Amino acid sequence: MTQTHTITVEPLGREVQCREDQSILDACLRAGVWLPHSCTHGTCATCKADVVDGEVDHGAASSFALMDYERDEGKLLPCVACPRSDVVIEADIDVDESVPVHPVQDFTGTVVALEEIALQTRRLVVELDRDIAFNAGQYLKFSVPARDGLPVVDRTWSIASPPTETRRLEFHVRNVPGGRGTDGWVFGGLSVGDAVSVSGPYGRFVLKIDDDRPAILVGGGTGLAPLKSMIRHALENDAYAGHLTLYQGGRSREWLYDVEYFQALAAQHPDRFTYRPCLSEETQADCGSDATAYGFGMVTDVIAADHPTLSGSSGYLCGPPPMVEAALKTLMSKRLFPRDIHREDFFNEGDKESGAVRSPLIKR
Ligand SMILES: Cc1cc2nc3c(=O)[nH]c(=O)nc-3n(C[C@H](O)[C@H](O)[C@H](O)COP(=O)(O)OP(=O)(O)OC[C@H]3O[C@@H](n4cnc5c(N)ncnc54)[C@H](O)[C@@H]3O)c2cc1C
Ligand code: FES
Repeated sequence: MTQTHTITVEPLGREVQCREDQSILDACLRAGVWLPHSCTHGTCATCKADVVDGEVDHGAASSFALMDYERDEGKLLPCVACPRSDVVIEADIDVDESVPVHPVQDFTGTVVALEEIALQTRRLVVELDRDIAFNAGQYLKFSVPARDGLPVVDRTWSIASPPTETRRLEFHVRNVPGGRGTDGWVFGGLSVGDAVSVSGPYGRFVLKIDDDRPAILVGGGTGLAPLKSMIRHALENDAYAGHLTLYQGGRSREWLYDVEYFQALAAQHPDRFTYRPCLSEETQADCGSDATAYGFGMVTDVIAADHPTLSGSSGYLCGPPPMVEAALKTLMSKRLFPRDIHREDFFNEGDKESGAVRSPLIKR
C-alpha cells in the first residue's frame, strides 16, 4: 500500500494527509486547504513555497520554475512535489475572503456534445455524474486515457459555462499538433457518449464578484473559455456590478468563435457589456461589409487605441503566454497596477522545457 505522510501547512497550522504518489497541492485542495496555484504542472511557479522540515520528491518541476539553487535553499512546488516523510511547508497564502474555496473532487462524466467551432478548435460539453461547485474562471483536469503504450496523463481545460450550471459543463479546446490530450484524444477519437474522468475545480483566475470597477477581459484563442464563464455569470446571475469589455483576439475570422453569441449579449446589455473581436491578420478590406464588427491589428494595439487610460479598471488576461504577457504590458502602460491584473497563462508541457515567458513585472 502507498505510504501516507502528514503535511503541516504554515502559517495556517493545518494538517493534511498526503500519499507518496500524490502532490502536496492535490492533498491540500482536496482537504479544503487553499494554497495559491495556477498551472498545477510545475511550470508557472505560482505555488512556490518553503520546506520547513521533511523530505520531498520534486517530481516534474520545471528547472525554470524551480531553479537548482532554490531546491538547495529548501523551496518546493507543491503542485508536483510528493512527500517522502512528514513535511512542514510554509506558503504565502493570499486567501481572498470573497472567493469561496471549493474542495477538489473526482467526477465521472459523459461527453454530450463535441463540435468544431473554429479552425482547430472544438467545443466539448460534458455532463457530470453529480453537481460540482466552482468559481467562474476555474478549470478541471481531464484524465487522458493511456494509448499506444503511453500512460494516463492529466490535461487542464477551463470551464466556459457559469457556476450556476453545475452538471453540464462547456470547454473550448484548441488542437496542438502532436499533443497527447488534443491531437491524440479530443481531436483524435473522443466521441459523444464516451465516459471521461475529471477532477476539480482548480485555479485562482476567478471573477472578483465583490468588485464593481470596469473590467477589461482579454482572451486569445481558447483563452476565451474562462472569460465566457465570467461574463455569463456576471450578466445572467448579476454577479458583477461593473462594466465588462471583452477583447477576443484571433488571426482571422475563421479562428474566432461565439462572435454572434457575444454580439447578441452586447446588444442585450449595452450598459454592462462591450464586445471587441480583433483580427491580427485580416484587414478591413478583407472583411468587406463585416468590417465594422471588428478591431484590426493585435488585440493589444486595439486596446491601446480604444483607451487613453485604464486607470480605475481591472484586467483579466487569458490565453497563450506571449499574448498574456503582451496584454499585461499594455494594461500597465495604461495605468493599471499589477495587483489589479489577473492572468491565466495556458502553459503546456512544452513550456516546461522552454521556461515560457516569465514576467519580471508581476508576481505569479
Ligand atoms: C490553467 C490552464 C488552463 C487551460 N485551459 C485551456 C483551455 O480552456 N483550452 C485549451 O485549449 N487549452 C487550455 N490549456 C492548455 C492545455 O492544458 C494543454 O496544455 C493543451 O490543450 C495541450 O495539451 P496536449 O496534451 O494536446 O499537448 P501536450 O502533450 O501537452 O503537448 C504540448 C506541446 O508540448 C510538447 N511536449 C509535450 N511533452 C513534452 C516534453 N516532455 N518535453 C518537451 N515538449 C513536450 C508537444 O510536442 C507539444 O508541442 C490550459 C492550460 C492551463 C495551464
Ligand atoms: S501551480 Fe505549481 S508551478 Fe504552476
